Formats: sequence, structure tokens, C-alpha cells
Amino acid sequence: MYSYERLLQENKIWAAEKVAANPEYFQHLAHLQSPEFLWIGCSDSRVPANEITGTQPGEIFVHRNVANLVINTDVNLLAVLDYAVTHLKVKHVIVCGHYGCGGIKAADTKTDYRPVLNMWLRNIKDVIRHHREELDAITDEEGRTDRLVELNVQEQVYNLAKTTIIQRCWKQEQRPDLHGWVYGLKDGIIKPVFEMKAGTQIDDLYEYDNL
Ligand code: CO
Repeated sequence: MYSYERLLQENKIWAAEKVAANPEYFQHLAHLQSPEFLWIGCSDSRVPANEITGTQPGEIFVHRNVANLVINTDVNLLAVLDYAVTHLKVKHVIVCGHYGCGGIKAADTKTDYRPVLNMWLRNIKDVIRHHREELDAITDEEGRTDRLVELNVQEQVYNLAKTTIIQRCWKQEQRPDLHGWVYGLKDGIIKPVFEMKAGTQIDDLYEYDNL
């Protein structure tokens, strides 16, 4: 058996278990998608959004990329954000990073990862530059990376607040709240590190007044 065939086999078992527990399970899900949460997480295979939050299919709208970045020219992320906020009307957007993130560690080196990854990781180098003083004061390497993971999540929450998608919704509907969380690979615990309630004042450089 090829390794990927195990996934298809497990899928059949999973579907059968769901139907055994509730014969209407898939009919119900097929007609309903009204998740309350948008999750922007790292692609890391150890941080599956539903599993670590004990949520079921239908509860969380998910976008994942390397090091959970919110980049204002990323059409993929912006399409997910717009759909989740404007059409699904989510109440909360969660940016969830994780300690021990390979993308974060890579960005804090001088290694050339070749054009595409260099382009992506450049955004994290900018986070380091914004917080250089605080980060340089941390002497142990793991402590520095942990703090960078937290600061990165915070900056990505700011990046969400800088979009017209979020600002328009804040102004018109007083939602969604933005949350910055960090998941611990070592203990499985999610730590909330930053929050912006709907309507929070942001640097007026980034504010739009004709929404
Ligand atoms: Co990661």
C-alpha cells in the first residue's frame, strides 16, 4: 500500500464513524456553513486548527501559510479574509502562530533560501527590525525566537487592522474582534498574546475615512 492510500482508507473509516454516530451528519453539514471564526495559522503539520481547539467541521474557516503572515498584497489571504468577514460574517479572526516555528527561525538567519522563500521571509525580517531593541536584549536563542513568534503574531494582527476589509466591517458592524495567539508545541496549550477589539483605534496613517 502506498502511503497516500492510507489517507483514503482512514477517510472511509472516519466518514463511516460520523454516520454511525449521526446518520444526518453530512446532510446537515452540506447545507450549512456559518463559522464564527476565521483562523490564520501556520502551515506546520503539527498545528491543525480544528484538532487543537476541539472544534468540528463547519466551525472554523481556515487559512494557513508559512509563519501565519498577513501580507497586504497576498490575494489568496485577502480573498479568504474578505469572504470570511464580508460574506460568512465571522465574529472573530484569530492569527495563531506557534513556538518553534521554522519559518520564524529561518528569517532570523542570514541563510539564502532562494528567491521565493526569501521574499516570503523578508516580511518577518521587517518584524525583527521593528522590534530589534527588545529582541537583541534577549540573550538566549530560544527565548529570542519565542518572543519573535509572539511579536510576529502581534504585527500580523496589526496588518489585519490596516485592511479596508476589517476597517469597513468595524465601522459598519462592530465586528470582528482580532486575536493573536501562540500555540506551544511542547505542551499543546494556546496562549493569547495580543487582542484588538472591533473599533480599536489604529495609527491614523493607516486609517481610511471614506469607507
Ligand atoms: Co510555523
